[in-house]
Amino acid sequence: MGKRIAVIPGDGIGVEVIREAVRVLEAVNEVYGLGLEMVSFDWGAEKYLREGVTLPEGAVEMLEREYDAILAGAFGDPRVPDNRHAREILLGLRVQLDLYVNLRPVKLLDERLTPLKGRTPEEINFVIVRENTEGAYVDIGGVFKKGTPEEVALQHELTTRRGTERIIVAAFEYARTHGRRRVTLVDKSNVLRYGHGLWQRVFWEVAERYPELDATHQYVDAMALLMVQDPASCDVIVTTNMFGDILSDLGAALIGGLGLAPSGNIHPGRISLFEPVHGTAPALAGKNVANPMGAILTAAMMVEYLGEADAARAIEGAVVEAIRRGEVTRDLGGSLSTEAVGRAIAAHVRARAG
Ligand code: IPM
Ligand code: MN
Repeated sequence: MGKRIAVIPGDGIGVEVIREAVRVLEAVNEVYGLGLEMVSFDWGAEKYLREGVTLPEGAVEMLEREYDAILAGAFGDPRVPDNRHAREILLGLRVQLDLYVNLRPVKLLDERLTPLKGRTPEEINFVIVRENTEGAYVDIGGVFKKGTPEEVALQHELTTRRGTERIIVAAFEYARTHGRRRVTLVDKSNVLRYGHGLWQRVFWEVAERYPELDATHQYVDAMALLMVQDPASCDVIVTTNMFGDILSDLGAALIGGLGLAPSGNIHPGRISLFEPVHGTAPALAGKNVANPMGAILTAAMMVEYLGEADAARAIEGAVVEAIRRGEVTRDLGGSLSTEAVGRAIAAHVRARAG
């Protein structure tokens, strides 16, 4: 029964949107008797500037021992120009908890929200399965002759068979268990012959084990085009850390913007971290205007991961209802505050439960 959630709001609008996600979680917790227990952590720019601490000593072990899931806001602050704390907290947790699946659904909730003329929710409904622990994110490289006209910089992209195989298997398993029909490998194997050549070999090997699923391939540039021109052809996309990062922002644009996009950083069967795709939006921070729907849909993904599918559907249904009624923030053409949208969605959750 009871599940323990570590809540890390982080910086900027992260604090405001997570407050609303927690409000909605409290509603489902009560109505569905989930037994969720939420504990907040103040890790972020403030703490870093005050104490020099990013991810506290022993934090990872503590999370693994005492918690079932993590709900995070966003990390990044103009007062920390290199965003060291963001890298150490968010990328640190992804790597140290070995959260190798970054699941980023691209699901249109209301026809009026997409910038693609005439596209319907049936046509824009796919998921990006982003590798989350290696690729260009490993921070391996260096500079030589820094600051001189001869300066040389190397930034490596790391690809392992184990890392590639487990993310590709995760994509096929996701497809199989979620009624999806196609898995598409997205890479740049025409140019990046070694690393992406490995992705190619592993992908076609794994695909053989799933004969009921259609396995296809696209180069990343062509995929960017297809996502806009023919989103209905997209189903489950599996790709590298960097390409997944870029394509998921494009995906967010297709469904109405970054304010609406949820994500999960998952190690199947272990503690996992859920965060909206958006950043801290310093220009909007503290003004009660940011869209909390991405964070609220993220909470729904977390609840689903914890085995509470009904509660997850109730949250998503409540968000759809708020959108339908025009109870939205200004990024979606409305005039409601962050808090008012959160309250409206929490009320719809309670109403739906009768
Ligand atoms: C994301 C973000 C992060 C990433 C940044 C903040 C390091 O853009 O979650 O997509 O690049 O993964
Ligand atoms: Mn990103």
